[in-house]
Amino acid sequence: MKIIVCKNYEEMSQKGAALIADVIKSNPKAILGLATGNSPIGIYRNLVAAYERGELDFAEVRSFNLDEYLPIDPTDPNSYCAFMHENLWDKVNMKSENCNIPSGKSVEDAEAECRAYDARIQAAGGIDIQLLGIGRNGHIGFNEPADALLMGTHPVTLTESTLIANGPLFDDPAKMPRHAVTMGLGGIFSAKKVLLVANGKSKHEAIRGMIGDEVTTSNPASLLKLHPDLTLICDEEAYNG
Ligand code: GLP
Repeated sequence: MKIIVCKNYEEMSQKGAALIADVIKSNPKAILGLATGNSPIGIYRNLVAAYERGELDFAEVRSFNLDEYLPIDPTDPNSYCAFMHENLWDKVNMKSENCNIPSGKSVEDAEAECRAYDARIQAAGGIDIQLLGIGRNGHIGFNEPADALLMGTHPVTLTESTLIANGPLFDDPAKMPRHAVTMGLGGIFSAKKVLLVANGKSKHEAIRGMIGDEVTTSNPASLLKLHPDLTLICDEEAYNG
């Protein structure tokens, strides 16, 4: 694992964006695994700026997002789909058919949609670089701490800690869905490179668990230590507490 500790959020975002930009420059048909949340927003801002300067071309780039709430309509402004349109997809020259996100539309169809999503990732040839944030409890995507974690994309029940952390991001926190769909550990580990970004004191415990000696499903991010090409970019607060 490579660890890069940055002064602040902006430096973390610049370094993270540079790593993703390198992947796109070396392969204009790169497959990106993308994440939502506050942590990657600065990376998207830097990637959009590089595109606007003419340094990056997204015409052939494809992306697969990690997760989505369930149930939620993709046009709901609180959906992760809306987040991606706002922060990246609509600001660069990605083709809409190349922008993928698990469907959170219907609880009844969730299992079938998950199988189809994994098949699409496989058919695309797998992910070149997977961007991840980390939950305060060490969750990645919505793979919450549990006795066992699943390999494939699957529906999950959100934990209390995640409901508390993410609720305020909803216009009306009471409307936050109690479930989500997330790529599993198999999907994340199939990526050739994994980049996890974290900032702020609230992530310190999770980062300590992630980089410590234990590999445990009670901190899903700790399993990433087993990935052959993992980079952690975090700020001093997340690293030192
Ligand atoms: C959500 C997402 C995760 C994300 C986490 C941290 O629960 N499902 O993918 O990593 O929040 O979000 P933030 O970056 O806003 O702290």
